[in-house]
Amino acid sequence: MTGSLVMGLGGLQLGIMASCVVLFVPMGMAGRHLSRNKILFFGTALFITLAVCVHLSPYFPSVSDFISSSASSSTSSLGLSCFSLLHRILWYNYTSSSSSWRWDSSSPVSDCGFQRVGPSDASDLLNGSWILFAGDSQARLVALSLLTLVLDSDKIDSVRADLFKRHSDYHVLVAKSGLKLDFIWAPYVANLTELVGKLEDGTSYPDVLVLGSGLWDMLHIHNASEYGASLSSIRTAMVSSLAFTTGDDGPVTGTTSIRSPHRFWIGMPWLVNSMLNTEEKREKLNGATFHEYDREIQESRILRQSGGPFALLDICSLSQGCGETCTTDGMHYDGAVYDAAVQLDGLHYFFLSTIGK
Ligand SMILES: *[C@@H]1O[C@H](CO)[C@@H](O)[C@H](O)[C@H]1NC(C)=O
Ligand SMILES: *[C@@H]1O[C@H](CO)[C@@H](O)[C@H](O)[C@H]1NC(C)=O
Ligand SMILES: *[C@@H]1O[C@H](CO)[C@@H](O)[C@H](O)[C@H]1NC(C)=O
Ligand SMILES: *[C@@H]1O[C@H](CO)[C@@H](O)[C@H](O)[C@H]1NC(C)=O
Repeated sequence: MTGSLVMGLGGLQLGIMASCVVLFVPMGMAGRHLSRNKILFFGTALFITLAVCVHLSPYFPSVSDFISSSASSSTSSLGLSCFSLLHRILWYNYTSSSSSWRWDSSSPVSDCGFQRVGPSDASDLLNGSWILFAGDSQARLVALSLLTLVLDSDKIDSVRADLFKRHSDYHVLVAKSGLKLDFIWAPYVANLTELVGKLEDGTSYPDVLVLGSGLWDMLHIHNASEYGASLSSIRTAMVSSLAFTTGDDGPVTGTTSIRSPHRFWIGMPWLVNSMLNTEEKREKLNGATFHEYDREIQESRILRQSGGPFALLDICSLSQGCGETCTTDGMHYDGAVYDAAVQLDGLHYFFLSTIGK
């Protein structure tokens, strides 16, 4: 009796491992630009593979079938629900500017075994990659979060100082992991359109592209339809360069998501109007305009959820979850919010999107 239970569990674990190896092969091919790191990646990140597969494997039908054929149905249905539980986090407002988040430690979330991607896993994963951030101050904050993860803590203060020299570009090479990170100050969506045009026409392309523009544009241009038109042209530039097989206006389907898994869009934060620090901001960054801009993001279909090229870093719901105590000016939030975005919508999503499709 006990013997067969042990055998059963051993078989299950082997099954998950085998499935993960199979699923991670397409992952290596997923990013054409990441593929030069493929061998190294498979070598060094095997432990990540095993760690994440345990909680990611249930998302994919082939693995779920595998599991349900060798395990009880309760395990399988538990696993299937993990994907929807990824964002079940709790915020802790110790004091302003030292908020933090944690996965809900009660069942069923705890059963999924979610865990942060730590510094060494992140460094391994991103080893030798080129990550390009472009956008306004929200993009800067997300870039800082990622750097906080991969840089030694004694370096991060000087990086923070350089990165926050106002309105300038920033470049850093993390020597120990060969990670190259560029930040391009591109506050208006028109700046992103121009950048994307250059990238799509050029010969070098970042391994991970993280873009976002919204608030600055809303404040200084304040024209949602123009914003939407620029977003649409970004989508068009990317879609045509990837030779998407979309049918006429239908969602992007088929192999597309496999070929472009490393593009992220930084969503706008939740605005606390009364805390905004100038009269102009309180007037222009109002709820109605926010919704118009947000609607343009949906309607331009740049996001994956509507068939576009970008996975969303959902700063809005994360900042709302952290709440008013996590911001002093109603628009820039504590590091915890951007850290959660990097962890949940960035790194975890990275695995999901590359092995799930
Ligand atoms: C990153 O890759 C280089 C080789 O390209 C290797 O020497 C180095 O040890 C790797 N670093 C990490 C943290 O894996
Ligand atoms: C961004 O776009 C604005 C408006 O089109 C332009 O005036 C500005 O020079 C651009 N900035 C950068 C850094 O390209
Ligand atoms: C917004 O921009 C469009 C296109 O450039 C223009 O036709 C429209 O008048 C602008 N709307 C406002 C309120 O300025
Ligand atoms: C943190 O503060 C916000 C309000 O600012 C509140 O909505 C949220 O529930 C708080 N979170 C925790 C875990 O106390």
